Amino acid sequence: MGKLDGKVAFITGAGRGQGRSHAVKLASEGAGIIAVDICEDIPTVNYEMASAEDLAQTVKEVEAVGGSIVAVKADVRIKEQVRAALDQGLARFGQVDIVCANAGILPMNDRTLIEGFIDGMDVDFVGAHNTVAVVAPHLRSGASIIITGSCAGLMKNTTEAMGRTGGVGYSFAKRLIFQYVETLALQLAPHNIRLNAVHPTNVNTRLLQNDDIYRSFRPDLVAEGKTPTREDAEAAFPGMQPMPIPYLETSDVSALVTFLASEDSRYMTGQNLLLDAGSMLKGERAI
Ligand SMILES: NC(=O)c1ccc[n+]([C@@H]2O[C@H](COP(=O)([O-])OP(=O)(O)OC[C@H]3O[C@@H](n4cnc5c(N)ncnc54)[C@H](O)[C@@H]3O)[C@@H](O)[C@H]2O)c1
Repeated sequence: MGKLDGKVAFITGAGRGQGRSHAVKLASEGAGIIAVDICEDIPTVNYEMASAEDLAQTVKEVEAVGGSIVAVKADVRIKEQVRAALDQGLARFGQVDIVCANAGILPMNDRTLIEGFIDGMDVDFVGAHNTVAVVAPHLRSGASIIITGSCAGLMKNTTEAMGRTGGVGYSFAKRLIFQYVETLALQLAPHNIRLNAVHPTNVNTRLLQNDDIYRSFRPDLVAEGKTPTREDAEAAFPGMQPMPIPYLETSDVSALVTFLASEDSRYMTGQNLLLDAGSMLKGERAI
């Protein structure tokens, strides 16, 4: 008996990282999985997106825990693609009960004026809204929506201080999620449908492990004209959290997502939950 037996979860950004981890964990609790990922690079992002092979690996890992999964390539910026992906999942499972709007980017390559800001907003905020908008008509009493925000996004002087418009777009999108959850949860509550956000501190995924982030954690080396390495950044990562860790692992986030998806949290809604090892106690809140 799993906590999510008979339920179906729609998860965006499921090709790797947190999204894959959520897919495997929710499947291990009995949920059927509809997994979506762009499987294509975004030019304003300096690190690669998940590939079709990555999404296929998610399928393997879900099946390895005995789960059922439909995996579809779709871009959350484009509502029609999200709808087409959902339709494929509905054709297989006939229902959807859990939504993880998790896809996200940190776009630090402005090729044209404010292009990073636009992509950050389009994926990190509009993408989450598109996901909610497309799934909403299919949700029934007992459904749970979980949006992935960001603790760094809710703090001052983190991504928006990285010197590119995409960092500002990232923070702004995550701050909008905070208000989105509080606003929309009230509309959903009478239907017994819940909406919450999880705001993690740094998580050990590609969004963290890349040169843009290494530079932001080691401005001292950048000032010396050096290119910070992962090893250099690892030395600085623990400075973010009062608890003695460099970052969360994806399983830490999946544990909270599973709780929010399950009946264990059946009267929790409209919450912006910090999963941050104390980061927000230390940093300055922007919201
Ligand atoms: N890693 C961190 O430190 C951290 C901290 C706080 C919040 N977050 C948030 O966690 C979420 C998951 O990121 P992650 O840490 O697993 O990083 P990740 O880069 O490993 O995963 C993000 C996934 O989203 C997919 N994706 C990107 N744009 C997409 C689009 N337009 N349509 C569909 N899929 C798309 C990518 O291909 C990738 O598989 C994001 O919303 C991110 O902002 C990450």
